[in-house]
Amino acid sequence: MDARIARTRALSLKHPSRKKQRLRKPDVIYYPTPPETVDEILRIAKIKEGDVLYDLGSGDGRIPIAAARQYGIRAVGVEIDPKLITEAEKNARQANVSGLVRFRNEDMFRIDVSEATIVTLYLSEKLNVLLRPKLLGQLRPGSRIVSHDFRMGDWKPEQTVRVPWGNLYRTVYLWTVPTPRTMKKHSR
Ligand SMILES: C[S@@+](CC[C@H](N)C(=O)[O-])C[C@H]1O[C@@H](n2cnc3c(N)ncnc32)[C@H](O)[C@@H]1O
Repeated sequence: MDARIARTRALSLKHPSRKKQRLRKPDVIYYPTPPETVDEILRIAKIKEGDVLYDLGSGDGRIPIAAARQYGIRAVGVEIDPKLITEAEKNARQANVSGLVRFRNEDMFRIDVSEATIVTLYLSEKLNVLLRPKLLGQLRPGSRIVSHDFRMGDWKPEQTVRVPWGNLYRTVYLWTVPTPRTMKKHSR
């Protein structure tokens, strides 16, 4: 075996995080959700036993970690930036929820989200609209989608909550994936 390849293999086994590579430029920059808004996102999602939460663009992992810690559910963070994955894994260990939370260094547009029953987003309206066909196509009816600050184009939210933030506020929107019979109303 080529000495350089052998050394790289040895290093990646010794330091798993070295295997994580930036996949491509992120679609939006990292900007964390304030803690009170995290709490509202989880409250509005009406979490119940057996739910699985996916945070698309999970940053430092605060939403999946809070879901596991506060509600005891399984949660997955999908994040394109490997440094944030390393930070999120460390945060999950510190919160003692590594057994419930997993972080995937992947592009959210390329993953399958069909095991999720709750998807959380803090991206942009344009990205939410681009994700809509995947979410409506892969999520089961009754799954909840919660977005911080950004709507889903013309898909009307069923609940909107404003969370005080200094002199301003953050907005949390909720949608529920419809059954196939009512799906016609929602252009993908
Ligand atoms: C505004 S931050 C939100 C972080 C976290 N969800 C929160 O609410 O605190 C958006 C995150 O999405 C990530 N991101 C951007 N494009 C992505 C993509 N295509 N796939 C996965 N993650 C992406 C960014 O690196 C960033 O961490």
